[in-house]
Amino acid sequence: MSLLTTFKNNQLPLVEAEMRNFLRQQTTDETLLKSMLYSIDAGGKRIRPLLLLATIAGFEKEIDLGAYQVSAALELIHTYSLIHDDLPAMDNDQLRRGLPTNHMKFGAGMATLAGDGLLTEAFHLLSRADLDGELRLLLVQNLAKASGSFGMVAGQAADVQAEGKLLNLQEMAYIHQRKTGALFTFALTAGGLLAQQEESVIALLAILAEHLGLAFQIRDDLLDVTATTAQLGKNVGHDAALNKSTYPALLGVEKSYQLLAAELAASKESLKKLQEISLVKPELLLMLTEELTLEAKL
Ligand code: IPE
Ligand code: IPE
Ligand code: MG
Ligand code: MG
Ligand code: MG
Repeated sequence: MSLLTTFKNNQLPLVEAEMRNFLRQQTTDETLLKSMLYSIDAGGKRIRPLLLLATIAGFEKEIDLGAYQVSAALELIHTYSLIHDDLPAMDNDQLRRGLPTNHMKFGAGMATLAGDGLLTEAFHLLSRADLDGELRLLLVQNLAKASGSFGMVAGQAADVQAEGKLLNLQEMAYIHQRKTGALFTFALTAGGLLAQQEESVIALLAILAEHLGLAFQIRDDLLDVTATTAQLGKNVGHDAALNKSTYPALLGVEKSYQLLAAELAASKESLKKLQEISLVKPELLLMLTEELTLEAKL
């Protein structure tokens, strides 16, 4: 079994337990709870918590309860963003994580509220995380910035407004860096902060995250063209149907693939620089980076 598979098997159940146990304590409404847990339990790759935890491990620091709680808060935010992204008024998707989307199962009203619940409870969980008070406050602020109207929500807003338009590369990168990159930035920088790294290291982690986030979304756009619904657990060909602004729509598959490869190479460069100043064990982060090539098993 690979180092990364072992890491996933050991760490993810703890993140998932934090999410489930917290949500169960925070509502008496059975349907709302079911709807929130439906999307959480549907799974997903959990790449954001994995990046956060792999960063801490990379600095040879212990992963403690506080780190699992921060990771859980991040995955709650991501899952809410998917529920809302799939709504009829947004991407109108029917399949997510191999299951009918939340609104197909619970209706658009309940799905909207499940998303609202996950978003709010993410901050509730983070505000009570087992961390030093100053660090906890900093992470609350960082997560708000990454997920809010400068971050993921800004990217989603630009994405919605870009439907049917032909953007230039800079505008595309703006969308991708926000709708996807911002949560990656939180993952890596939170990992660094939890591992007590100094500012210059956090700045490098943010650069790494920008490359990884952009690579991740270019790959997501490419997979919508090149992969199958069975492989992804979500409907393919949807971006073209919605006239979405994507890298393949703008540049074609070949050129997009080259840009993906360039972002992955830049990620590896950033990892090298991190190793020069502070990262002791880059293996897990390197393996997570390599999972983002198109050739990697889906
Ligand atoms: C999908 O995210 C939305 C994007 C930002 C591309 P993921 O591909 O991480 O979705 P899950 O969590 O594995 O389902
Ligand atoms: C969504 O991007 C990014 C989010 C913030 C949820 P996409 O709309 O491309 O994600 P998928 O392809 O539906 O997973
Ligand atoms: Mg979308
Ligand atoms: Mg979508
Ligand atoms: Mg997509």
